[in-house]
Amino acid sequence: MKVLFVCLGNICRSPAAEGIFRSKVLENGLGDNIEMDSAGTAGYHIGEMADSRMIKHCKERGYDITPHRARQLSQKDLIEYDLILAMDRSNYSNILRLDKNSEFGGKIKMMTDFVSSMRASEVPDPYYDGPKEFHFVIDLLEDGSNNLLKYVSERL
Ligand code: 4NP
Repeated sequence: MKVLFVCLGNICRSPAAEGIFRSKVLENGLGDNIEMDSAGTAGYHIGEMADSRMIKHCKERGYDITPHRARQLSQKDLIEYDLILAMDRSNYSNILRLDKNSEFGGKIKMMTDFVSSMRASEVPDPYYDGPKEFHFVIDLLEDGSNNLLKYVSERL
């Protein structure tokens, strides 16, 4: 099963989502069964490392996202991945825009569909905010990743 996390720049939210989910997958011994990656709908940051603030806050919470390099989402990703998770509604509609023949809607979901212990309809963009908002993003992603892992494990 291949899971792709998508945000706007692929330097804050989706690299964190990928790193947190990877850590849970590996903890559960499912590294051979579940693959994950992340991408941005925009191409502003292609080739860059994750945002230094997200690297720092992820490290504080036990996740190393330093290997990440940003890339842009492509139409090929819609074919290749089994589950594509948008961080916010704008990401969601930008992903759907690549689905020209409306073939892949069934595998495109919101990350917050998997968040159960907090009320949130989007993973908000923390780019112009501070440490509190970065940690809130990580809270949402940890909660969502736990439920996502359960969902994916039942479908392997
Ligand atoms: P991300 O955050 O979508 O979570 O990676 C952003 C990164 C960069 C920009 C906006 C959001 N930007 O405008 O450059």
